[in-house]
Amino acid sequence: MRILEQAVKEKATAALSAAGASGDLENLLGPATVEELGDLAVPCHSLAPLLKRSPVDIAESISSSLAPVLSGIAEVSAVSGFVNIKAEPKWLAARLCEILPDDRLGVSIEETRVAAVDYSSPNVAKEMHVGHLRSTVIGDAIVRMLMHKGHTVHRENHVGDWGTPFGMLIEHLLDLGEGNAADELGVGDLDGFYKQARAKFNSDEIFVERSRNRVVMLQSGDEETLRLWRVLVDESMRYFNEVYGMLGVLLTNEDIMGESNYHHLLPDVVTRLENLGILEDSDGAKVVYPGGWVNREGEPMPLIIQKADGGYNYATTDLACIIDRVERIGCNDLLYVVGAPQTQHFKMVFEVASKAGLMDNSHNATHINFGSVLDSDGKILKSREGEAIKLVDLLNESVVRAEQAIADRNPSIDPKQRREIAKAIGIGAVKYADLSTERTKDYVFDWDRMLSFDGNTSPYLQYAHARICSIFRRSLIARPLPDGTAITLLHPEEILLARRLVNFSAMVDESLHTYSPHRLCTYLHSVASAFASFYENCPVLSSEDDLVRLSRLALCDLTARTLSTGLGLLGIDSPEQM
Ligand code: ARG
Repeated sequence: MRILEQAVKEKATAALSAAGASGDLENLLGPATVEELGDLAVPCHSLAPLLKRSPVDIAESISSSLAPVLSGIAEVSAVSGFVNIKAEPKWLAARLCEILPDDRLGVSIEETRVAAVDYSSPNVAKEMHVGHLRSTVIGDAIVRMLMHKGHTVHRENHVGDWGTPFGMLIEHLLDLGEGNAADELGVGDLDGFYKQARAKFNSDEIFVERSRNRVVMLQSGDEETLRLWRVLVDESMRYFNEVYGMLGVLLTNEDIMGESNYHHLLPDVVTRLENLGILEDSDGAKVVYPGGWVNREGEPMPLIIQKADGGYNYATTDLACIIDRVERIGCNDLLYVVGAPQTQHFKMVFEVASKAGLMDNSHNATHINFGSVLDSDGKILKSREGEAIKLVDLLNESVVRAEQAIADRNPSIDPKQRREIAKAIGIGAVKYADLSTERTKDYVFDWDRMLSFDGNTSPYLQYAHARICSIFRRSLIARPLPDGTAITLLHPEEILLARRLVNFSAMVDESLHTYSPHRLCTYLHSVASAFASFYENCPVLSSEDDLVRLSRLALCDLTARTLSTGLGLLGIDSPEQM
């Protein structure tokens, strides 16, 4: 809840109920849609039929009863059937003075949830595609926000490291020679490796036979087979870790909880479903009908738990995962950051898990889905050769482009420092482009836009931050500012900046509760742009008056900290110089 809403909620509700509103209508207070008019608004239109008066009339009477009780906090006005509530500059200044010495900028600690966040989750011996990039970046931002709020977070990298393709992959490894295969995988030529194996599998009967036998050996725990399997997993992980390192995400080897880890739980899944009597036979396969899903022919669609040949499915592993996360880890939140094409899979899995009592109402299982990354023609982003783009190449290119952009803007900067800053900007740009679009939507991958120093981009936010750091370097005033630094808000630009700054905590909460990092991005951009007009219109260092200078420096300091903390929650660095 916005800080002003907290301050006026009770009084506004009382005014509404005194005017005759009841039930839900007492809660009409919410963020204003037109910022110029106010911070909060009460739309009175839905009250009209109940009170048999015009919305304009109702707004006016609520406004005149509310105005005196909110004096000192907010200004109240009635405009076309809305009651508008706008924070008083003095009240805003007092809030900013409270936040100024607070390292957390007003963000409270909740510590109430135990969450498993399933994210990144690439597949062994296959290129990590841009979908995995999205999952990695969005998942990491959600993990950081949860941790910042004090919750206990388990990062779960559900790597695809088990199943029938491994027979073929191990046989291909043997054909290539272990050393050569390891080299190929370790440098990230995962797609090439997978495709060669697949091509042989599609054309060579003996290879097919060998692959089948190999799967059986893998499943039965043959030692040598397991060793070869480990080579595949380790070499792929080496490449994934390189991508994680470049991205600067929190994932480490400790977080790997691949499909193979749940292998031993799969028979238990079958037994539990069997004991509950919800497992049915369908042409020899064991299935559950969660209800509510039909195929093209209108027949009910099952979730396949065990195939007729005895093999298990992707869904079976996910049910085992739920058992593990609920019973072993004790999670309240089971969050899955996975692309939109798996929506039905997760709906069915959650449904079956609830039906089987693997989780109950106290558990929040959420599929945090996301759209695709498109090229400028609106097609799924691929390399020029039509292959999945190698993520390291993409990230390297971003850093090179950022380095060029910095050199253009600041030719005198030391090359070593330029390289460091370029990493923060280049990687930040890719992450921010992803995080700043509403995650369920597709977005177009556009170098020029994401690396632009204008607009809702990370270079713009990073630049605003670096600019403030440079103001402080020139001011010779040390941060943190002295205790009791007074803030006075006189100019409209100071007031607008303050109105935005006070909402940081509410925006972090809102972004986390909706698993929507883009909300935090939009907010940070609004802070940076309010700062730009403040800085243009209100002299800071050249201000004549010492108290005014200090008050404005306090606004600069709060802006910089809001931006760097906010970017930090998104997993993006804020260099002090650019
Ligand atoms: N490895 C899967 C893929 O690449 C994603 C796994 C997502 N997590 C899960 N628990 N199913 O599509």
